[in-house]
Amino acid sequence: MSESVHRLEPLDRRPLSDRTCLVTGSSRGIGRDIAFELARCGADVVVNYRSSDEKAHEVAERIRANDETAITVGADVSDPDDVERMARKVRDELGGIDVLVNNAGITVDRKFETMSYEDWTRVMEVNLNGTFNCTKAFYEDIRDAENGRLINISSVVGQQGNYGRPTTPPRKAA
Ligand SMILES: NC(=O)c1ccc[n+]([C@@H]2O[C@H](COP(=O)([O-])OP(=O)(O)OC[C@H]3O[C@@H](n4cnc5c(N)ncnc54)[C@H](OP(=O)(O)O)[C@@H]3O)[C@@H](O)[C@H]2O)c1
Repeated sequence: MSESVHRLEPLDRRPLSDRTCLVTGSSRGIGRDIAFELARCGADVVVNYRSSDEKAHEVAERIRANDETAITVGADVSDPDDVERMARKVRDELGGIDVLVNNAGITVDRKFETMSYEDWTRVMEVNLNGTFNCTKAFYEDIRDAENGRLINISSVVGQQGNYGRPTTPPRKAA
């Protein structure tokens, strides 16, 4: 993923000023730009990451430099205990969330012949189980929020298939 070109010019309107949003995998890539845009709209943002501690802190620092609220929480979304720990920390520090963006994901591109069971399982653990774990941990926050939202980031490749990506369904014959 290329470096972010996102600018954080404040908006005149701040339509999300009463929302707290958690973006999984927002230390870099698409998640980082989602975090920036939510902050630009006035939301308090939770920046989640697995191992890129420094990058996640840079994202939060950039948001705070624009007088918005951001915290970082490291947690592996594929680990339910880690996700529960994240939920406790978020509730302690920000009182819960209104919006969950399940963005964290990994890509393991292999032809089917060379895709190992371990590769396959890791993709499922992060991309599928991670979405379940985070939704489970924050379900009540979102359900009880006045304008709760659950957003799952996917890919057009999940619908159409692509060569070398056996973790997506094969393209149907025309
Ligand atoms: N890039 C594309 O062209 C594209 C296209 C379609 C869909 N998508 C989807 O969009 C999402 C983001 O993609 P991206 O390209 O922006 O990814 P990326 O640049 O590789 O960034 C992935 C992010 O997810 C985090 N992450 C990975 N495994 C994690 C785990 N187990 N627990 C918590 N966080 C984890 C990473 O944290 P660390 O930095 O700590 O590793 C990082 O912040 C993915 O779901 C992907 O499938 C991407």
